[in-house]
Amino acid sequence: MDKRFEGKVIVITGGAGGIGRAAAVRFASEGARLVLVDLAAAVLEESLAQVERAGGEAVTVVADVTRLGEVERYAAAAVERFGGIDGFFNNAGILGAVSPLVDYPEEAFDRVLAVNVKAVWLGLKVVGPAIMARGGGAIVNIASVAGLRGSPNLAGYVASKHAVVGLTRVAAREFIARGVRVNAVCPAPIETSMVEGLESGLNPDDPALMRARMSANIPMGRYGRPEEVAALVAFLMSAEASYVNGAAYTIDGGALA
Ligand SMILES: NC(=O)c1ccc[n+]([C@@H]2O[C@H](COP(=O)([O-])OP(=O)(O)OC[C@H]3O[C@@H](n4cnc5c(N)ncnc54)[C@H](O)[C@@H]3O)[C@@H](O)[C@H]2O)c1
Repeated sequence: MDKRFEGKVIVITGGAGGIGRAAAVRFASEGARLVLVDLAAAVLEESLAQVERAGGEAVTVVADVTRLGEVERYAAAAVERFGGIDGFFNNAGILGAVSPLVDYPEEAFDRVLAVNVKAVWLGLKVVGPAIMARGGGAIVNIASVAGLRGSPNLAGYVASKHAVVGLTRVAAREFIARGVRVNAVCPAPIETSMVEGLESGLNPDDPALMRARMSANIPMGRYGRPEEVAALVAFLMSAEASYVNGAAYTIDGGALA
């Protein structure tokens, strides 16, 4: 494996989750030191163990990314432990409710917007300047194919992921003058616990049927793997993507083709 991130410090939110953990292992194997942030303390420790098994170094911070004070705390932990931040994978997210738009619960809508939109903005607001203070770097926000098209029964999630694409475009235009590229990735269903929640939310009696149907709508005939998303995120974070800014990259087996 190339060492594209030797000497670099990368912060990952949602570091206990499927995609966040795969990204952590990928960045560690390419030489980065990591700050892994999540609400789920015990599962976060398992991510740390996997990073260490890959020969990497990481610190964990248990934090709720929807709160400004906690975002400031995880950013400060990165600076304190490793001296600064070079890269940021703004990845924590939730699915929210699975329900027709007219029945969608108000509190679920508020929560999904808080985690998937407000927290992404807070991360950009706090970590962006920290990366600028290092002289530049890169940020990858995670949107979804749901950030580029509508999906029935996912009003909150779809609205939130469209907003992530919008925030990415604003930050890309504002931050580039200070040397920070900002891009988004837009995955189709990826093999994590989130997609299992989607399958059982859409069809509690037969989630396997939903899996078969959703897979059939993807030209490659399958969901993606977290490692495949991690590879794209690593490319966008690396110097190889030096002219890529403000993009929303699909990684979807051709689903939106
Ligand atoms: N799995 C998919 O099919 C898929 C597809 C497209 C986009 N995504 C996006 O990828 C990202 C990662 O999802 P995943 O599939 O790895 O799911 P996951 O549920 O495995 O991971 C999400 C992580 O975010 C953490 N999190 C949630 N709310 C938080 C909060 N307030 N503060 C701190 N951490 C919090 C969770 O504890 C969890 O560890 C999400 O933003 C998701 O929307 C996932």
